[in-house]
Amino acid sequence: MSREMIAILDFGSQYSQLIARRVREHNVYSAICRADITAKELSKGFPFCDGSRNGAQLQVKGLILSGGPASVYDEKAQKCDERIFKLGVPILGICYGMQLGCKILGAQIVAAEKREYGRTNISILDKNDLFANLPDSITAWASHGDQVGELGDNFVRLADTRTCPFAAVRHKRKKFFGVQFHPEVSHTPEGSLILKNFLYDICGFKGEWRMSDFVNEKIEAIRRQVGDAKVVCGLSGGVDSSVVASLIHKAIGDRLVCIFVDNGLLRRSERENVESIFQDHFHIDLRVVDWSKQFLDALKGVTDPQKKRRIIGSEFIEAFKSEASKITNAKFLAQGTLYPDVIESGFGDGNPAANIKLHHNVGGLPAELGFELIEPLRDLFKDEVRVVGEHIGLAEDILWRHPFPGPGLAVRIIGEVTPRRLEILRRADGILIDEIKSAGLYRKISQAIAILLPVSTVGVMGDKRSYEDVIAIRAVETSDFMTADFSKISFEVLGVISNRIINEVQGVNRVVYDISSKPPATIEWE
Ligand code: XMP
Repeated sequence: MSREMIAILDFGSQYSQLIARRVREHNVYSAICRADITAKELSKGFPFCDGSRNGAQLQVKGLILSGGPASVYDEKAQKCDERIFKLGVPILGICYGMQLGCKILGAQIVAAEKREYGRTNISILDKNDLFANLPDSITAWASHGDQVGELGDNFVRLADTRTCPFAAVRHKRKKFFGVQFHPEVSHTPEGSLILKNFLYDICGFKGEWRMSDFVNEKIEAIRRQVGDAKVVCGLSGGVDSSVVASLIHKAIGDRLVCIFVDNGLLRRSERENVESIFQDHFHIDLRVVDWSKQFLDALKGVTDPQKKRRIIGSEFIEAFKSEASKITNAKFLAQGTLYPDVIESGFGDGNPAANIKLHHNVGGLPAELGFELIEPLRDLFKDEVRVVGEHIGLAEDILWRHPFPGPGLAVRIIGEVTPRRLEILRRADGILIDEIKSAGLYRKISQAIAILLPVSTVGVMGDKRSYEDVIAIRAVETSDFMTADFSKISFEVLGVISNRIINEVQGVNRVVYDISSKPPATIEWE
């Protein structure tokens, strides 16, 4: 297992996560940290496994200073600890990171006469290290208003563009490199090679970080952390909680107890699938709590979306608590927190694990439950979670499942949630997913959902007037679920979906397709 890593100092770039991903693609572990992390903290290294005091320590062998929205001359601009340039580890500054590094090391930054936004042509002037094996000219993605104006005597110029004389530089004595463009984005086709040169030739990584090592290391870390206690895990059947459960089960076997809450708001066969995979196949101690009556009773007559969510949240806590209290010696609660949820709060106060924000918590479980948290995925991106899942033998079906919200079908029934309306939606949703799968679109579409509307419309069925419900279909494509495009499903496939729903789901006589993007529309309708 590689014990070395790259630390990325985040100056507020929208691409910081992308830098981390690109570095990991070269089999080098990377973590994002606050811009003002001190040289002392960096030289101590990072704990490999948050939450485990015995976790392996990773040594920082290179730094990347990210881009950022500010100008280095802004009073409020984020600065870094200048002593990081004395650590002796190579540093790559990207965009703002380059300007900041250059300024600290004696160059002068100015507002560019001509700003560069978008694609730009870079002429490579020096191919000794950062640009080794690159052609004489490359296209790259740039986005900057400031740039280096005077380089001074301490630097060597490595590249320029028509309007930017110092598009890339190297310090003569310190191992500091700066690029004014963004090697991390896909619009810079040679960017991956530039990063590889930095990681392998300049920092000296060998590309030894492997997901399989990560899995083994994580299993060990979980064993150390848990000791002989028990871990409770809220299982939803989604990718994250499924991978968490399987990983912990590999580590501590029977001392993992999973709780699956049947809230009556699940999709077709959802509970049965979870039982068959986790109980029958993996032999995990799975406790299914049937709390559907309580959920549906509490939701009776409620139409306000926020109220629905609050009710569902508090019923979930009740259901979970009632089951968890039956488990003796349960000390830990497992959560599927992912890296994007923890990045922004970063590291600080000399204790990197201390001030990490928790955005996620399983169904909003309160701290009063008294569990310690165990979060084995908190170092990973979503697609890396899938790779871990593959390593531990989870079926493709689970790994590529579209996300399903905690409040379940309730937020897809506009208006009151009743058993009859749930049944209509469940059947329509089943048909939608079947047809998306049989058209080979399931992996291309990020999330496909059916929504039951609170309006009835007139139709004609078998020569008779009908006055029935409307189902809306929404299918989106997105990489981060923050922004999304509606999916351009062909009319043929939409036609089949509509036909089947109207013919097979009693009570529905009309199907419509949602063609809004996010923003301004959200993915769910409530
Ligand atoms: P929106 O509707 O905000 O959804 O565009 C973005 C993603 O989040 C999911 N979502 C939820 N997931 N509990 C969850 O676990 C919730 O309350 C919730 N609301 C939305 C949604 O399905 C989409 O993937």
